[in-house]
Amino acid sequence: MYGANVETAADRKAPAPVEDPALLAEFQARIDRGESIEPKDWMPARYRRQLVRMMSQHAHSEIVGMLPEGNWITRAPNLRRKMALIAKVQDEAGHGHYIYCGTETLGVSRDELVDDLLAGRAKYSQIFNYPTLTWADIGVIGWFVDGAAIVNQTVLAKASYGPYARAMIRICKEENFHKRQGFEICAVLSQGTDAQREMLQDAVNRWWWPSLMMFGPSDTDSPNSRDLLAWRIKRFTNDELRQRFVNLTVPQAQAIGVRLPDPDLRYDADTQNWVFGEIDWAEFWAVVNGNGPCNRERLAARNKAHADGAWVRQAATAYAAKRAGAPRDGGSTAAA
Ligand SMILES: [Fe+2]
Ligand SMILES: [Fe+2]
Repeated sequence: MYGANVETAADRKAPAPVEDPALLAEFQARIDRGESIEPKDWMPARYRRQLVRMMSQHAHSEIVGMLPEGNWITRAPNLRRKMALIAKVQDEAGHGHYIYCGTETLGVSRDELVDDLLAGRAKYSQIFNYPTLTWADIGVIGWFVDGAAIVNQTVLAKASYGPYARAMIRICKEENFHKRQGFEICAVLSQGTDAQREMLQDAVNRWWWPSLMMFGPSDTDSPNSRDLLAWRIKRFTNDELRQRFVNLTVPQAQAIGVRLPDPDLRYDADTQNWVFGEIDWAEFWAVVNGNGPCNRERLAARNKAHADGAWVRQAATAYAAKRAGAPRDGGSTAAA
């Protein structure tokens, strides 16, 4: 789903290595020519580190993002909705694995990445630490959260690092399906009974502001933005992407007759933007730092799933060893 642009204090404290100016200049020239950087190419340590940070956060977000929606698979209101939701949640698992593979091309093992997530050392998008209280939440998540992901990821599909950019192309196609299935749920509820319309409005009220926070801190709080933009890891600032999302979403809300919970929302004819109110950054940082409504529940669920899957990993490893003709359990292949 979600390329979170969250940078922690620890990221900022790590010392920047001194790079060879000639190599740096050539690297920048390649980026400026629009070339793609591939895994075996020379790259500044900081470029590699920023990519590992962004890509691993993104992969973790896809995986944790399955949890709030997975909760509703057994409660989907009919077979069609259930099939669409299963397909969507499965897609998110695929996105996570794709991006873990991409991160591995930068020299980090998947085991390390998964360990970081399970131990609570890794970040993932804050949005998945909110609860899904009603069926309308599933519609609104598809509409807002996958909608925000598309805004982010369409741009990442042109990022300078080849494996990441290529992964985004397929992922964006699937995100479009996710967004449409979500918006369709909302459109149907908006035509329903009073209770269904209230349920939809309540979900919109709860998810709107956390969805705006998905784009990360304001540019004034994002000290690495300049380098990331120069290296084409990012192509637009967090605030620019957030504005694009708001501009796309307001007319959709109007089309199905739901109110966005922002008394300051107004159209500015000069800039052709929907101007929105102040984001509660204290809430954002509280959730990022582990104190959202569901942070502990999400990590506990991931740890349980990992432990429950131990036998699958053991069986797959034993099978791979058997296929390779290697001895199993320290035994000799000669006896076989
Ligand atoms: Fe998605
Ligand atoms: Fe996704």
